Amino acid sequence: MKVLFDEQTIKDRVSELGKQISGDLEKSGISELMVLGILKGSFIFMADLVRKMDVPFIDCQFLGVSSYGDATESSGEVKLTHDLSHPVRGNHVLIVEDIADTGLTLSFIQNLLTTRGAASVRTATFLSKPQKLHNDCRLDYVGFEVGNDFVVGYGLDAAGNYRQLPFVAVLPH
Ligand code: XMP
Ligand code: MG
Repeated sequence: MKVLFDEQTIKDRVSELGKQISGDLEKSGISELMVLGILKGSFIFMADLVRKMDVPFIDCQFLGVSSYGDATESSGEVKLTHDLSHPVRGNHVLIVEDIADTGLTLSFIQNLLTTRGAASVRTATFLSKPQKLHNDCRLDYVGFEVGNDFVVGYGLDAAGNYRQLPFVAVLPH
């Protein structure tokens, strides 16, 4: 497999993001944050990111969506498969996503949280594929940009496989 980002490179970047996000939140006077991971791809990034954030109170929550099934191309439809167990109203929320491709998933969730009365909504995505990104999807924090190849590892999967790889690699055809 062709490795795009190795373990150390990822570690360094996630630390930077954690510092940057914490600094921005502190400037905005936010000391309580709901970190909302989009299942399943974000779980490794989220676990590493929250441990690099210096925010007094972090409530970790998860939301399940599916837009792909087992295919490697978006179906263009976003389906909620696991809802929050917690009300969003009044909370400052950081959405944590594995990868933004068309951005459909993220803008769907941004709208959902805004409708439900979140106090503020920020997004952190580990990877972004800028080529197909819709402009109605706002990305506040991006780990790395990638091209159009299908990538796996560090939480990202192909039909459920490779999430456990500590690096990001291009899926061979
Ligand atoms: P959209 O188009 O809604 O897609 O931004 C976001 C979701 O698509 C999945 N995705 C990928 N998953 N390698 C993956 O493992 C990829 O290269 C890739 N591109 C998109 C991902 O589940 C994300 O949540
Ligand atoms: Mg996936």
